[in-house]
Amino acid sequence: MALDLVIRGGSVVDGSGKPRFGADVGIKDGRIVEIGKVSGNAARTIDADGLIVAPGFIDGHTHMDAQVAWDPLGTCSCWHGVTSVVMSNCGFALAPCKPADREWYARCLSAVEDIPTEAMAAGIDWTWETFPEYLATVERLPKAINYGMYIGHSALRMYVMGKRALSEAATEDDMARVNAAFTDAAKRSLRIGFDAIELHFAHGYLLHSFVSPLSNKRNDAYGGSFEGRMRFPLEVVRSVRAAVPRAVPLGARITGSDWLDGGLTPADAIACAKALKELGFDYVDISSGGISADARSPTAPGYNAPIAEQVKRVTGIATRTVGLIVTPKQAEAIVAEGKADMVALARAVLDNPHWGWYAARTLGAEVKRPRQYLRSSSTLWPGAAIRDAQG
Ligand SMILES: Cc1cc2nc3c(=O)[nH]c(=O)nc-3n(C[C@H](O)[C@H](O)[C@H](O)COP(=O)(O)O)c2cc1C
Repeated sequence: MALDLVIRGGSVVDGSGKPRFGADVGIKDGRIVEIGKVSGNAARTIDADGLIVAPGFIDGHTHMDAQVAWDPLGTCSCWHGVTSVVMSNCGFALAPCKPADREWYARCLSAVEDIPTEAMAAGIDWTWETFPEYLATVERLPKAINYGMYIGHSALRMYVMGKRALSEAATEDDMARVNAAFTDAAKRSLRIGFDAIELHFAHGYLLHSFVSPLSNKRNDAYGGSFEGRMRFPLEVVRSVRAAVPRAVPLGARITGSDWLDGGLTPADAIACAKALKELGFDYVDISSGGISADARSPTAPGYNAPIAEQVKRVTGIATRTVGLIVTPKQAEAIVAEGKADMVALARAVLDNPHWGWYAARTLGAEVKRPRQYLRSSSTLWPGAAIRDAQG
């Protein structure tokens, strides 16, 4: 087979964790078709002697949705060694979007993610309306790195309902279209090759706004009692579960408490987790708050862990929890004491991007380091002992 490209003589680091190995890499139609001694001809050859050939590094949480339009290098990411980004996080996205709503979308991204509206006005050529059209636009743009994106909840609701999204309850037709979009997104995630899928039922996201009595003011079958408020989220759950093979872990981030009078409580979280488990979900992640600007999350360490513990004990579903988990010993204790099966951290990792390494060190383990960082391991660096002694 005549190849399009051969990368010859590089040191392949394939991302699986196994040691690097010398090999040629043959590419045809944009896909790797050979790794090893590639003898065939190719339209183009890159000499990678002395170089690393690697699939790259993924940043799973970015807001490059607008910047991708004017920054071909994706500088915020690629200057830090990232080769693939996932965008449209936090539910904010630029597609799907009707032309009349563009300014509202830009204002949202500006308000929440601090992307200047002036930059968006000058830098974006809105050539899309649907989500696939946005994907096609991003595909056409010159880019130095790879981009993947979520379908954002805020965009989805606005697209389905228009300005009614800001003042009216969703109709059953609106909800059916939202459900279809969730299910299609799950199918696309499988096609892209994600290993697990998580629905967002927590801290202010669209499905949480159905579950919480503070935001769900409907007086039809989709509001009122807990059963009514769970009706639409569970329709989405059934539909997504049916689209995702059982072998792919499927979970949901749920709310442990709204932290406001009249809002969701740990008992609701237990009922929600139970319903998800019965419908074949594999785990829940206990988060909380976020439904209203008046809600103040507690400031106690690991404040959601006691709720996760109750959910796990009563329902038996696997749990993760998040929220002011700061130190490695604290994280380890939550898992070791059986309060949750997994922990997640956000701000502690912003504070220390090497948190995982620091945790391994604190708990007596050593991480597998990239070669460039081997010199700072305690076996090769006397400074590690000085650091540990002096803090
Ligand atoms: C910069 C930042 C971005 C976040 N974005 C998201 C998000 O996209 N989706 C989400 O579910 N939670 C998001 N969160 C909330 C965190 O996942 C987490 O629930 C919360 O920060 C509490 O955990 P922590 O005390 O470890 O920070 C974000 C938090 C931070 C600090």
